[in-house]
Amino acid sequence: MASKITVKAPSSTANLGPGFDVFGLAVNAFFDEVTLTKKRQKGITILTEDDIPTNPENNTAGLVIKNMMKEFKIKDGIEIKIKKGVPAGFGMGSSAASAAAAVVGFDKLYRLKLDEKLLVEFAGFGEKASAGSIHYDNVAASVLGGFVIVKTNPLSIVKVEPPTNLRMCIAVPKLQVPKKKTKVSRGVIPKKINFIDSVLNLSNAATIVAGFMKKDPELIGSSIKDVIVEPARQHLIPGFAKVKENALKAGALGVTISGAGPSIIAFSNSSADLKKICVAMTKGFSVANTKCLTIICKSSKGAIQKIK
Ligand code: HSE
Repeated sequence: MASKITVKAPSSTANLGPGFDVFGLAVNAFFDEVTLTKKRQKGITILTEDDIPTNPENNTAGLVIKNMMKEFKIKDGIEIKIKKGVPAGFGMGSSAASAAAAVVGFDKLYRLKLDEKLLVEFAGFGEKASAGSIHYDNVAASVLGGFVIVKTNPLSIVKVEPPTNLRMCIAVPKLQVPKKKTKVSRGVIPKKINFIDSVLNLSNAATIVAGFMKKDPELIGSSIKDVIVEPARQHLIPGFAKVKENALKAGALGVTISGAGPSIIAFSNSSADLKKICVAMTKGFSVANTKCLTIICKSSKGAIQKIK
């Protein structure tokens, strides 16, 4: 049995507008890398050069490995080396990417051959370390890749292969984000919603699924409309309305908050002028005196072993 493994897992965008906590899409904008090494000395050691907690209880990958070791009664010592590529706290599934890489790495290292649902379930524990609550949209996308639909109670995941010509422009603002950002942005979501709004979101969510099934970026993009969560969260992102307006004017099909934000994601297809959309988003943020990094990306495969 190998004693060391490296797994690379992609960033992801959650919600895609109306699919709060239900939709996830793996995107090849950023990747995290996790290397697991069996050690003689017992316990979990976390090594990283990034500014993340190194206590296994507070570290996404650490918490995942701790749970899996307990569940499968594994007594080895494990060193977890984490190389963050996904910016933490920007709505790009950073904690999920580390959790996904850890789960897939552990599964392979100990030849557990867990099914997809169990991999996602274990990765979900990691979310608890950063978001305070378990939700599976980012982890499912990061573990499995492509577009995912999360059903809960009981958990099941439906994966759909995205259209190959689907493109996303992501603007990551250079902002100071609160430490427990996801918790903060989940705190502003309304407890009660208007019936008409729920019908509107449901119709758009259903059409997004149809768009993925029919491999139709126009159908997906034009249904990225959320009248419930986006209006409640947008005040947390300076310049949001302008960035959205500019991206749509520049040809984006649909624009929304990526996950819990503050990144903003525009959906389009490969024939659009994607650079123009990025420039328009940058100009939108500049109105709020905020700089941003823009990235053009596609959907990504899930977490995979890196062969060095
Ligand atoms: N669905 C989650 C949210 C994703 O929007 O709060 C954040 O990780």
